[in-house]
Amino acid sequence: MTFHSAPAPATPHLGPVLFTAEQIRVRVDALADEIARDYGPGELAAVAVLKGSFIFLADLARRLSVRGIHLTIDFMSLSSYGAGTAPAGPVQVQPTPPLRATRGPVLLVDDILDTGLTLQTARELLSRNGITNLRTCVLLDKPARRRVPANADYVGFQVENVFVVGYGLDYNDAYRHLPYLAALVAGASRPDRGTA
Ligand code: IMP
Ligand code: MG
Repeated sequence: MTFHSAPAPATPHLGPVLFTAEQIRVRVDALADEIARDYGPGELAAVAVLKGSFIFLADLARRLSVRGIHLTIDFMSLSSYGAGTAPAGPVQVQPTPPLRATRGPVLLVDDILDTGLTLQTARELLSRNGITNLRTCVLLDKPARRRVPANADYVGFQVENVFVVGYGLDYNDAYRHLPYLAALVAGASRPDRGTA
């Protein structure tokens, strides 16, 4: 009798580093320069999309602060992914603390612009709150996967059509803690929680 071992489950695991912590630092500095040049010193309202943007927002807020821009910060919780690497359906709006009323400009901050559905939903929500003076800032842009017309005013890095984790971005809520950005690749024998 011949025994065949079952194939290992195709568990995605951590692949190559796309951008190191140092490359991210340099790029976030440059984004802060651009934003500071466009808005000038003063207060600026930021609305960040949870959860993926939290590290990017924290770094951006501090880099803007030393350039004289002081962010006020609101969050909205939007999600189009279940437990996977592809959007599971329509963008879900989770309960979100009420947005501060603002007549001034708003900077919408997200981790990655992929299909464009999240940004489109966020824009609609903000415009229903009377916010029309809006610019968007994303750490990553994956233009190959766009499903609706959407673009961001400030983009950290463009990426190919790979699933990216680290620096706030997750797969199944793992990998957010990584200080760098890496690709997730298919087919490992065991999940790698990115402790390397
Ligand atoms: P969109 O609605 O398809 O544009 O996707 C935006 C949201 O999907 C982002 O805010 C992320 O939370 C998630 N997302 C899209 N691509 C990736 C990825 O490569 N890694 C991790 N999260 C992603
Ligand atoms: Mg997100």
